[in-house]
Amino acid sequence: MHSILVAPSILACDFGCLHQEVHRVEEAGADWLHLDVMDGHFVDNISFGPAFVDATAAVATIPVDTHLMVSRPDHYLPRFLGSSQNITIHVEADCDIAQTLGAIRDAGRTCGLSLRPGTPFSAVAPYLEVIDLLLVMTVEPGFGGQSFQEAMLLKIAEAAKKRALKKLAYRLEVDGGINAKTAAQCIDAGADTLVAGTSVFRAPDMKSAIQHIRGSKP
Ligand code: DX5
Ligand code: ZN
Repeated sequence: MHSILVAPSILACDFGCLHQEVHRVEEAGADWLHLDVMDGHFVDNISFGPAFVDATAAVATIPVDTHLMVSRPDHYLPRFLGSSQNITIHVEADCDIAQTLGAIRDAGRTCGLSLRPGTPFSAVAPYLEVIDLLLVMTVEPGFGGQSFQEAMLLKIAEAAKKRALKKLAYRLEVDGGINAKTAAQCIDAGADTLVAGTSVFRAPDMKSAIQHIRGSKP
């Protein structure tokens, strides 16, 4: 189906050296850059906004995968369309989900839909035909460095099965507590796009960490 991609989350990088960190992770083999936007309302944390995403995209040479952990993605969407190749909203957000997904695609971007660990797969089922990516959160959104929730492997497998059954082509992304071990479990369950923050940016050897997450251990 899809090639395995590794999308390091810059939430775990040294923000004081943003340009160098983006370059470092690209050199280490990252496929995408995952940017976690948090509004302090949808999640109990505030990370960064459109200006930071623009600044990151300006120095990046790989696609920007923006994860909007915000209550009103419809309201803020126009400010992210300029510099993100993929924009993911949450099914729990307070907006018309189908309309917002459509607005992302109408702007020529790919659209993603994400769900919290406590949200059942059935919540995203109505949208599977209109998304390019499904992001299964394997931690409660809001913070990096949390432990992987093994129970989410069932949800990943359900999403992969549904994709095959309905002959759909969305990417299956996972996010939270992803390292070489948990990545292998997620790939076995059907995931193809792996977000990793701590395990990449805190790794002694970033290139090796990305290779091991991708499963292409040398
Ligand atoms: C959490 C974010 C994740 C997080 C991943 O709300 O969506 O992308 O940054 O960080 P690690 O890989 O450290 O769990
Ligand atoms: Zn994320």
